[in-house]
Amino acid sequence: MSDADRELRVSKIKSGTVIDHITGGQAMNVLTLLGIDGSEGEAVSVAMNVPSDRLGHKDVVKVESRELSQDELDVLALIAPDATINIIRDYEVVEKNRVDRPERVVGVLECPNRACISRTDEPVASKFEVLPDGVRCEYCGTIVREDIAEHIESA
Ligand code: CTP
Ligand code: ZN
Repeated sequence: MSDADRELRVSKIKSGTVIDHITGGQAMNVLTLLGIDGSEGEAVSVAMNVPSDRLGHKDVVKVESRELSQDELDVLALIAPDATINIIRDYEVVEKNRVDRPERVVGVLECPNRACISRTDEPVASKFEVLPDGVRCEYCGTIVREDIAEHIESA
């Protein structure tokens, strides 16, 4: 049996985005980040903890008929720094990009400080400066180092 035969694959998609090389265990957080809970009937395939030469284990998320916004890519870079974004059209990979660690993320993470101005009713978008080991709220200075994915706004 060749390695290719032994490899477990989910089907190829016709068009949309394949997020490959996601840090093992982060696929659910990626779905939350994209606001995908399955209720809208979109076709989504998820593979978790599959073997990867580069990462040991990886997750893969395939979303039909959907591309990611820059804000989504920025947070993705924080929770899955090795992710590869493959744009698929007519079954072919037409674009392949790595994610870049952003300098700041706007409007995607929620500040854990309930008194923070970004958490009050005013229409103030959350803003976090990206540090080497976490993110820092630009309004109140609160720093989040662990479990950044738990602070995704749609979570
Ligand atoms: N893929 C898909 N549907 C397609 C084409 C590709 O789901 N119609 C998926 C592949 O299964 C793979 C990813 O998109 O998970 C990237 O495809 P490809 O570049 O062909 O694979 P690799 O060369 O293995 O990618 P890399 O070099 O980035 O590891
Ligand atoms: Zn804050």
